Amino acid sequence: MDKTRIRKQMRKMRRALTPAQRAQAGRGLKRSALTSGVLLNSQRLALYLVNDGEIDPQQLIDQLQRMGKTVYLPTLHPLRKGALAFVLYNRQTRMIKNRFGIPEPDFRYGKRIHPRFLDTVFMPLVAFDQQGNRLGMGGGFYDRTLAFTRKPGKKPRLIGCAHEFQCLSAIPAEAWDIPLSAIATDVTLRTFNQSPE
Ligand SMILES: Nc1ncnc2c1ncn2[C@@H]1O[C@H](COP(=O)(O)OP(=O)(O)OP(=O)(O)O)[C@@H](O)[C@H]1O
Ligand SMILES: [Mg+2]
Repeated sequence: MDKTRIRKQMRKMRRALTPAQRAQAGRGLKRSALTSGVLLNSQRLALYLVNDGEIDPQQLIDQLQRMGKTVYLPTLHPLRKGALAFVLYNRQTRMIKNRFGIPEPDFRYGKRIHPRFLDTVFMPLVAFDQQGNRLGMGGGFYDRTLAFTRKPGKKPRLIGCAHEFQCLSAIPAEAWDIPLSAIATDVTLRTFNQSPE
């Protein structure tokens, strides 16, 4: 199946979930992420606000903030076309809607962080497979922004987030797709082979 058809079908399926199913999946995601232990050494984390039926990380965000961790959200990069910039997110953060209608911190007032200083980045996805390949919405935003993580050196751990049903047997992987270290769902967290740090 080609990427366009996978995107269409998966986005339709995830948008069809009821509010109760979304809330339950969000609780499951929080449990998968926190019980796995992968976040023990993470202080600065990027997550996202839910859009288009994605699994909702809000409950995980709330819990991480209660634990004293610092949370950042992606914004469309004001200068670098097709890239994201990460901005601090807390109760004081001023939010605006970007050109896709997605709420994001107002870049003019926000405190930015270069992604190499993040410990973990959680990102949404449309579909994934057991090898850790990720299919996003098709903009290449995360791929472009996090392309530097292929090079040696300090880098964030990359974790995809999805509903368990978004798992397919195989996703067409492209040369530019960034490798993920894990995928967290409402059911479990799968880790993938990473070069030793
Ligand atoms: N590092 C990169 N530099 C330049 N262009 C890139 C890079 N990564 C991806 N792209 C471009 O972005 C386009 C979309 O990529 P892809 O289909 O992998 O998106 P995606 O992973 O689904 O989206 P997203 O990362 O926003 O969720 C591709 O046509 C590709 O050429
Ligand atoms: Mg990609």
